[in-house]
Amino acid sequence: MLKGKSLLEPMDFSIEEYEELFTLADDIIANPSKYAHSCEGKLLATLFYEPSTRTRFSFEAAMLRLGGKVIGFSEPNSSSATKGESIADTIRTVACYCDIAVIRHPKEGAPRVAAQNTDIPVINAGDGGHQHPTQTLTDLLTIRSERGSFSDMTVGLCGDLKFGRTVHSLIKALSRYQNIRFILISPEELRIPEYVRKEILIKNGIAFEEVERMQDVLSKLDILYMTRVQRERFFNEQDYIRLKDSYILDAEKMKQAKDSMMVLHPLPRVNEIAVDVDADPRALYFKQAKYGMYVRMALIMSLLGGEIK
Ligand code: NCD
Repeated sequence: MLKGKSLLEPMDFSIEEYEELFTLADDIIANPSKYAHSCEGKLLATLFYEPSTRTRFSFEAAMLRLGGKVIGFSEPNSSSATKGESIADTIRTVACYCDIAVIRHPKEGAPRVAAQNTDIPVINAGDGGHQHPTQTLTDLLTIRSERGSFSDMTVGLCGDLKFGRTVHSLIKALSRYQNIRFILISPEELRIPEYVRKEILIKNGIAFEEVERMQDVLSKLDILYMTRVQRERFFNEQDYIRLKDSYILDAEKMKQAKDSMMVLHPLPRVNEIAVDVDADPRALYFKQAKYGMYVRMALIMSLLGGEIK
């Protein structure tokens, strides 16, 4: 039972609870009209202290498609954050009006602080360079729907593995499935954080290698998860400029990949996937964005205890 819970990081839910969400998402995809009133009378708050397109829109679209309503801000300068209000006080106030809150914040741990100060479910929609568990739900539903299972695969993660919160969450979640191998492709300076390497990969005995060149490993991959270099997390613009085009996947490189390889990307993309890859049937990133809305419908409905009406 997920009712009343918060989702702050991927391990907050068990594998069985993930499966419950994916099964519900499958049914929503197959019979959307069945769920059109499931969250009637409920209100979702979106508190976005950082820019977003997909995450915020997909949450809002998800709630509206469940018959619920949405309020929120997408620009912290329009909220009392500019007056110096703490996240604890903000959530206490929001909880007076709303049934569930979705928070994106530049500070790691901010959604957790919010959850500790309220009884309503809080969903982490990205906290700094830390975690992004609902992007992971999106990624997993895409893999499950397009491939059938999460086990026995070689997953390449490429780009900014240091600051890319979607990468940290996806590695965590996939580490619970059988026979997963990771190939971590990044420049030396953008390798995964030490806590991911030690606490997740090494501790659980998961096979992984860290490489710099994409071309050397492309043919081995079942999934290639591309990421954007996270400009907003760099201290120094010069470093960003030097590293931003480290990897560019294009149609020519795709010739080396397996016919069944899936190309995923949380989006937004900058230059790391050339537009000539978009028409390739292995390019699933826009489809992935759509799965994101359905899995968020399943999540909101489950946390609110919504029913088919
Ligand atoms: C990601 C994020 O915000 O971490 N975007 C998203 O939510 N789909 C990835 C990114 O911004 O690069």
